[in-house]
Formats: sequence, structure tokens, C-alpha cells
Amino acid sequence: MKVLLLGSGGREHAMGWKLAQSSRVKELISLPGNPGLATLGPVIEGIAVDDVGAISAMAKIHGVDLVVVGPEAPLAAGVADALRRTGVPVFGPTRSAARLESSKAFAKDVMKRAGVATGGSSTFEDPADAISHVESTDGPYVVKADGLAGGKGVLVTESRADASAWAQEWTEHGPVVVEEYLAGPEVSVFAVCTDSGAVALEPARDYKRLLEGDEGPNTGGMGSFSPVDDLPPSLVEDTMRDVVQPTLAQMDLDRNPFSGFLYVGLVLTSQGPKVLEFNVRLGDPETQAVLPRMESDLVDVLEGAEPVWNDLATVNVVLAAKGYPTSPEKGAAIKGLGTDFGESVHVFHAGTVSENGKYLVNGGRVLNVVGTGPDIRSARHRAFAAVESISWPGMAYRTDIAS
Ligand code: GLY
Repeated sequence: MKVLLLGSGGREHAMGWKLAQSSRVKELISLPGNPGLATLGPVIEGIAVDDVGAISAMAKIHGVDLVVVGPEAPLAAGVADALRRTGVPVFGPTRSAARLESSKAFAKDVMKRAGVATGGSSTFEDPADAISHVESTDGPYVVKADGLAGGKGVLVTESRADASAWAQEWTEHGPVVVEEYLAGPEVSVFAVCTDSGAVALEPARDYKRLLEGDEGPNTGGMGSFSPVDDLPPSLVEDTMRDVVQPTLAQMDLDRNPFSGFLYVGLVLTSQGPKVLEFNVRLGDPETQAVLPRMESDLVDVLEGAEPVWNDLATVNVVLAAKGYPTSPEKGAAIKGLGTDFGESVHVFHAGTVSENGKYLVNGGRVLNVVGTGPDIRSARHRAFAAVESISWPGMAYRTDIAS
């Protein structure tokens, strides 16, 4: 089987690493890929990851048997629709169903009609209406751009003035959604949704803030771990029954069936788990912690097989560039990637480039160092021991991942 994987981050390197182990995958092609993915098979350059016409033409010409989509942008641009039209099998939702991620108002509406527990929300197009809503309520305030904003459209704040200013700014780009604040620990639960039903992956927890103790600005994610030991024992089963199945049933009723990864971001509130958000892809950096725990062939799982898990725990430490997340500095030479870390450590590339045999920093989140072991403690120890061997000027990471 020839598989085309779309995307270029740490999540995609982990997905490619797992796909390349499949006995069914003879060739893994990545677009646009990264230096880590380039060690697993050819990478296609010169086509943007959301250029749906060029991707479907390329997949057809290369005789691709399956396209697996990493990030949300190509799905929101309709890559799955275009591929299906050209007869190329793809794992991922249609553009319309991908609105579960690409429109927060759409997702809230589906959840409400499906009876899924989530925070209350109101959607506004007129800034004056949004501001008057903010002014009539108490904080903390959660104000989100309705559409995809590359992780930049969300503000959570105690300040009414900041919430109003945010609503003013983002209504210039489209609707904004003002949501009820949900307090509690977060966890990411993933479902693989196919025509034959949905199966769950193991949950993971990520760290969104830049600095130790959950301080500093929001980032794409500074680390992750799995399993998560403070979850209610039946959380995954409950989430499949109370969130995933009703959502899929509602999408069917709406003649907008969903297939692909459904990422359920949950907050464990004092009233029970509530959905913070849906995404239509796997989490980054959660995937890097989840897939090393999967014993099964990923292609079988994408076809609906119930996954089998190994006994490992995983801890993923993200190494970020100086200046991340606002203005990451590119170009520094990365030392230590030639180290033999052994089988208990995986290093997944995200923001790197390979030049003249050297790896250079080329993005905000640069590398994911994943330690594995019989428990979180040993996985953590192995991850941080490997981190000690890697360096570049200004390299930043959190030392409290999974502590
Ligand atoms: N880890 C958060 C996300 O993937 O959106």
C-alpha cells in the first residue's frame, strides 16, 4: 500500500513513524514532510498542504492507496472531498463535517442538539452585541474567533476590558463566540471514526503554557504524557457513549456524516466532564505520546479495528526555539541529534530543516523528545536524559512535564 501523509509537524512525524511500521505500508510519501519524515520515505515539496487540487492530482498520478491527513487546514479547505471525487481513499472528514473544528459556533450547535455536555456560548457578528454581552457577565471570560486562527484566536481572561477589546478586534475577521469558562483539569480523548463506527485511542494530557507551573503565554503545546492517572475510571467509555456517539448520530441526522479523527478536548469540571472543543485531527503534541503506546497496525485502526495497547508510559518534552511563541528565531544549528538514544526514546521532528548534513532550527516547536518506560517516572527520566544531549542557542523547554 502506498500512503500519502499530509503535514509537517511533530504529530505527522509520529504518525509517519507508526505508519512506516505497518506491514501493509510499502511506501510512505509525505507532503510537505520534514527532515524526520524524510528518513521514512520520499517527501513532496512545492505543493502547499491546503492546495487541494494539486494534492488530489498528485495522489492520483502517484497511485496513492490511502491519504492520511495530519493538520486541520487541508480538511477545512476540502482536501478529503477533492480526493474522494478523484477516487483516492482518504482518512479524514469532508469540508462540511470538518466545521466541527473550523467553526466553533457550528460545533456548539451540534453539541447542543446532540445533548453533549459543554459550556454555554453565544455567537456575535456585531462587536457592540459581543461587548454588551461581556459587560453583562462576570469573568473569567472566554472569547474565541469562530473560524480557524492558527491558535491565535482564543482569549481566556479575568479582564472585562481585555475581553471586550478582543471581541472588537476579532469581529473584524468574522463571528466571535463568547463561551462559559470551564474550570478543571483538561484531557484529550481521541476517537477514530469510520463508516463502521468509532473506536477510542488512549487519552493524553498536554501542556499549553510556555513556562513551568502553567505560566506565560499559550503555545501550540510544550509537552504531553500518557496514560493520565487522575481520570475517572470509565472516562473513555463515557466519552464514547455521551459525546462521540451522539455527535456522530447528530451529524448523520443532519446529512453531514463525519469520519476521521474526532479529538474531544474535555475539562473535568466539578459537575463532570464537559467538552471544551472538538478538533477533527489528532492532537499535537499528544499524538507523539499516544502512538508509541499503540501495539496495533495503525492502518488497521484507521479502518476501524479496535486498537491494542502496550504496557508503556510515555512522556513527550517539546524543545522550542528562542522567542517562541511570538517570534521564534530560526537558523541555529542543532547539536546532539546523532546521539544513540536507544529504543526507549523517540525524537520526532517538527520545526527543523536539513542543510549540508546539519539540522537547523526552522520553526517554533523544533523537536519532540519522547521517553518511554514501564511507568511515567521512568519515561520522564529517559525523556529528560535525552534532552540533556540536545542543544542549540536559546533552546527552551519546560522541566515540569509529567512531574
Ligand atoms: N494539543 C492541542 C491541539 O492539538 O490542538
